[in-house]
Amino acid sequence: MAHALDRGSVIAVVGSGAMGSGIAQVAASSGHRVLVYDTRPEAVGKAIAGIGKAYDKLVEKGRMGALEADLARERLQPAASLAELKEAALVVEAIVEDLEVKRKLFAELEDLVAPGCILATNTSSISVTAIAAQLKRPERLVGMHFFNPVPLMALVEVVEGVATDKGIADTVYATAEAWGKNPVHAKSTPGFIVNRVARPYYAEGLRLLQEQAADAATLDAVMRDCGGFRMGPFELMDLIGHDVNFSVTQSVFKAYFNDPRFTPSVVQQELVNAGFLGRKSGRGFYRYGEGIAMPAA
Ligand code: NAI
Repeated sequence: MAHALDRGSVIAVVGSGAMGSGIAQVAASSGHRVLVYDTRPEAVGKAIAGIGKAYDKLVEKGRMGALEADLARERLQPAASLAELKEAALVVEAIVEDLEVKRKLFAELEDLVAPGCILATNTSSISVTAIAAQLKRPERLVGMHFFNPVPLMALVEVVEGVATDKGIADTVYATAEAWGKNPVHAKSTPGFIVNRVARPYYAEGLRLLQEQAADAATLDAVMRDCGGFRMGPFELMDLIGHDVNFSVTQSVFKAYFNDPRFTPSVVQQELVNAGFLGRKSGRGFYRYGEGIAMPAA
């Protein structure tokens, strides 16, 4: 049986947006020293400050001890360059959902980190096999796919590409369990498990909106209040980010040879064109301000 990485292992997180900051929060509160890198240094500062506030809230609610929170905060460190990640035992990448950008990052990383370091991608939908293909040692790259918001969502898909070493996937699985998550093994099929099954939820919601069946808020309310879903499709896309969700749909569509079932939506494309990315930009299908979500239209 594979063992989890021990608490003395350093974890590096590359990309400190919505997902990277959540992954860093969970790794630090699980006892690891965590190095956080982003091409935008201000994003690292924002992520570390945001994690600090999240720990404060957990302390207020009695779910974390004050000392435990202080120690976790101290374990989080900004990294000014990729070279500073060289002591990591596991690097989790959570950057933009773009194959070429991810490949370039891992090509740089594999020359910097130790031979035993595990390289993990949090990609939602890009082939893990393809991300790894140009590496000198593709067997050490694995998908470690968390869900949003990371501290609250238990599921982690541990995704094996064609070349992924099974022992490495098992170590990542055991590590996710040690971090309090509920991992599942998956192969690198387009969208893996959850993003494949969830595609029609978004696509049919968007089609209903285009056909003017009802407005987004009504459709969300029906799915939430009567359908038993925790979130309707539009509020969920706003949470995920339209840039991310649109890229995932495009990637699954392309990977299934343009199967019409996965056709991306022009409505969502226009939101991306407008920069209305959802919660993170203050506007998507809803407007966000002072903690209130208002229909945008
Ligand atoms: P985000 O837009 O919130 O954050 C991405 C961060 O990566 C930004 O801070 C950006 O400055 C940084 N970045 C971009 N290129 C970089 C590079 N070359 N090197 C270092 N940093 C770089 O995006 P989010 O939502 O955190 O998504 C990140 C990844 O996680 C994507 O692959 C996405 O598909 C995946 N994901 C997203 C989920 C979601 O609900 N948003 C859920 C699960 C996975």
